[in-house]
Amino acid sequence: MAQFKIVVLPGDGIGPEVTNEAVKALKAIGKKFGHTFDMDYQLIGGVSIDKTGEALTKDVLKRCKKADAVLLGAVGDPKYDDPSVKVHPEDGLLALRKGMGLYANLRPVKVLPMLADQTNLKPDVIRGVDLMVVRELTGGLYFGKPKRRYTTSRGRRGVDTMAYSEQEIARIAKVGFELARTRRKKLMSVDKANVLETSRLWRAVVLEVAKDYPDIELEHQLVDSCAMRLIQNPKSIDVIVTENTFGDILTDEASMLAGSMGMLPSASLAGTPKEGTRIPGMYEPIHGSAPRRANQNLANPIATILSAAMLLRHSLALSKEAKAIEDAVMAVLNAGYRTYDIMSEGMKKVGTKEMGDLIAAKV
Ligand code: IPM
Ligand code: MG
Repeated sequence: MAQFKIVVLPGDGIGPEVTNEAVKALKAIGKKFGHTFDMDYQLIGGVSIDKTGEALTKDVLKRCKKADAVLLGAVGDPKYDDPSVKVHPEDGLLALRKGMGLYANLRPVKVLPMLADQTNLKPDVIRGVDLMVVRELTGGLYFGKPKRRYTTSRGRRGVDTMAYSEQEIARIAKVGFELARTRRKKLMSVDKANVLETSRLWRAVVLEVAKDYPDIELEHQLVDSCAMRLIQNPKSIDVIVTENTFGDILTDEASMLAGSMGMLPSASLAGTPKEGTRIPGMYEPIHGSAPRRANQNLANPIATILSAAMLLRHSLALSKEAKAIEDAVMAVLNAGYRTYDIMSEGMKKVGTKEMGDLIAAKV
């Protein structure tokens, strides 16, 4: 029995709807296992800009740093898409990742047997896929300086910088190796070492870290051919470790193996995950705010509910409780309930709330 403080950042679009359902699941866990979860609701993204002018205020960041864990819905609102806008909802997410030091982003991609017929790929190719992408989250193009747009006598220019230090590479490589150790002991390090200097450093440092992990089978793969392998033979992949932008792109691709982005959770951690150890972290679905789907009780809350399970496992060291949520999700899917994005013939179509209620009840 314990008491935990969780900052909840519902954010924009479908964010509030899906976080509601994840909070329901957590409350059900609290009831069943006798824990208390204090939820501290705060603003991030477009809703925060509307109210405060900032995508993430200092006060909210401070609360997140002090909490046991952070649960986030989604950020992004088309009204801020105009390139001349100065503050973007996404800035809040990046400030949170950087501010909490969340350098390790874990994105598990598991094809659930009952959804295998459901994707755009042949069932044979994806059945049994179980891979984990470890994405570096506080470096690379997202944060490198210089980063700006300016005007020269010959016209406008824009610059982003991809930069990595050896320390940044070594610590994320370590996360990849450690996770591989708890799984099928295969690590694929993804880079673009045939072209990029950061990637050549990446490869060199990964090889140095590999000396501490002789039991792990290490493979280097160029990012373009990794994109191909993900579709061609995803079953052969166990753990992928890669830099920020490559990981962003590859995980959207990988989500299609699981049938829908609405199924994929993520954990962003300030350390190497370890069974029984509490690592500060932030948990969010990998999908965006899907503004066109918002407020219609349509969105699939499973990605966020599974993110709450990751929260229990990694930041609260409650593995039994995490498993209880994951089992509840499986049971509800096995019973034939589907949101619109994973709907197929003969299944029972439900909305966001109903899906959340069913899962909480199963817990
Ligand atoms: C993700 C998202 C974010 C990213 C956006 C919303 C800034 O696409 O988490 O993958 O690019 O990291
Ligand atoms: Mg993305």
